Amino acid sequence: MPEYKVVFLPGHITTTINDRETIFDAAVKTGITIKSSCGGAGTCSRCRVIIKNGAIQLNGTGKLTEQELAEGYVLACQAYPRDEIEVEIPASSMLSEHQVLISQDRELEQPPLKIKPLFWKVPLKLSEPSLDNHVDDISRLYTALNQKERLDFPRMGLDVMQKLPRVIREGDWRVTVSLADMKGCIEIVNIEPGWDYSNFYGVALDIGTTTVVAHLVNLETGESLGIEGTYNKQAIFGDDVISRIIYVVEHEKGLQHLQKTIITTVNELIDVLLKDHHISFDDIWYITCAGNTTMTHLLLGIDPEHIRLEPYVPAFNSIIPIKAIELGIKANAKARVYCLPGTASYVGGDITAGAEVIGIERQNKLTLFIDVGTNGEMVLGNSEWLVACACSAGPAFEGGGIMHGMRAMNGAIERITIEPSSLDVHWETIGNRSPVGICGSGLIDCIAALLECGLIDRTGSFKPPAPHPRVRLEDGEKKFILVFAEQSGTGCEITISEADIKNLLRSKAAVFAGIRAMVKLIGMPIEAIEQVYIAGGFGRYINLPDAIKIGMFPDLPLERYRYIGNSSIMGAKMILLSREARDDAEMLAEKITYLELSVGNDFMEEFVAALFIPHTNLELFPGYLAG
Ligand code: FES
Repeated sequence: MPEYKVVFLPGHITTTINDRETIFDAAVKTGITIKSSCGGAGTCSRCRVIIKNGAIQLNGTGKLTEQELAEGYVLACQAYPRDEIEVEIPASSMLSEHQVLISQDRELEQPPLKIKPLFWKVPLKLSEPSLDNHVDDISRLYTALNQKERLDFPRMGLDVMQKLPRVIREGDWRVTVSLADMKGCIEIVNIEPGWDYSNFYGVALDIGTTTVVAHLVNLETGESLGIEGTYNKQAIFGDDVISRIIYVVEHEKGLQHLQKTIITTVNELIDVLLKDHHISFDDIWYITCAGNTTMTHLLLGIDPEHIRLEPYVPAFNSIIPIKAIELGIKANAKARVYCLPGTASYVGGDITAGAEVIGIERQNKLTLFIDVGTNGEMVLGNSEWLVACACSAGPAFEGGGIMHGMRAMNGAIERITIEPSSLDVHWETIGNRSPVGICGSGLIDCIAALLECGLIDRTGSFKPPAPHPRVRLEDGEKKFILVFAEQSGTGCEITISEADIKNLLRSKAAVFAGIRAMVKLIGMPIEAIEQVYIAGGFGRYINLPDAIKIGMFPDLPLERYRYIGNSSIMGAKMILLSREARDDAEMLAEKITYLELSVGNDFMEEFVAALFIPHTNLELFPGYLAG
């Protein structure tokens, strides 16, 4: 099979691929992160690169314009080398750093956490043997441990057993024992001479489809030392979990690629945190990880294929802790990784984390927890029962499928108002930068404002426009100009089209229909929901009145709502520090009844009814009726 050299500019990064591999594959090999929503299927047109030199074979050109083709643009995933080639990757095709939602914006009142971490060290004084006392070493250790920790015969690996006689004598019968909670049993994972029980740390991880967050925690004191976040490098294999599963299925080494990529992402975050705090990898002893079911499978290198195939059964929902070293995570060789349990293929450990953080299983009030990302996942219930569902909200709230949509990162418009008389647009961007696109919270504001100004009707279609420089018909498509080219950070207009609006309406309809399907299942009216917790990475936080105005969330009094930010990382940290919270999370994940929206319920009917703004049935939105 012929092989060709590929040189990526501007960095002159070089690799070799065969004639059946694409430029996109070459970029993956070198670790260059080119944008992709479709995982190389040739449908998203985000992987634009420029061929500077050399011959290629093209399988398709997607949405490239004639001008782009004339300038040498190709889709990296559709281009096969037929010669040594030089490729330029324009900045607009590189994945850039995300504004990662690393913690909650507002403090939640939670009961004080009793620190009882999943890993801890215990100093012990063992009785010394004599000619009258022949008790073996291990029994002395167990006796001392039982007196101090009330632990009966914890498990002990052969490696610990092998060094036990030397260590206890070296320490003159004083030893420090390291204990790890293995879910259902405790294991002695290390023994050291003398009493040195400082310097042990843990890392809580939130592994999202889009972003990854790591939180470094002192396991002795419970103190938070630092938090870091970045985008999930797996994004080069597709924006959503389905694209990534398809990549695994269709590529021989797809699973290994995806696992290696997430481990690299995690290790880079751990690296930064440890350097900042002058801590060694050897001092990381326990890692907790909250992620959706697909992300957890990919982290562990377990085939996620059946998650997307009916009847949608994952390989596991709950799993015992495993050794970090087996995954290649940089930590002590004996460190363990605990993945928070999930409930189903589309209600994973991240949702368990959020539900645990708000204490939903202890609530007397009927409580709704919603996490909106590429999927809208929600849990409804109280101390007596819990039901959950996942609706395919699509990537619109993360900017996917919207011409100028983007994730919540610097330069994204996150707030918009439009003056009804002049149609002047006022915006706020993340990082106070010149606007380069619009993120989920801005898009919700935008639809509410267009409706309020009478520019669109309740189906999201533009009304016949009065002549105005901001309203335009282009290539048969109606558009509203939010930012003129000279005001934007890209030098191009930022617009919202009718197709964008319809996309957003489908996403908001999916969320609302999911909520309605759950309340209908339990035979309650929607207004019976007494409190709503919203998690997710919309921007800094969502504009609730506008989200209700467009019919995304129920028309409930605003004081019933709370935006809690990244509840996934909060839950992972909470469980790292509390065996009790871990036990609760395991019970919680089992207690939740999963509602599969694709079969035997009213979801589709509800979805269609919710495609209107705010809804076909206006009685569900008394605030809208009242004006
Ligand atoms: S079109 Fe190439 S990655 Fe989507």
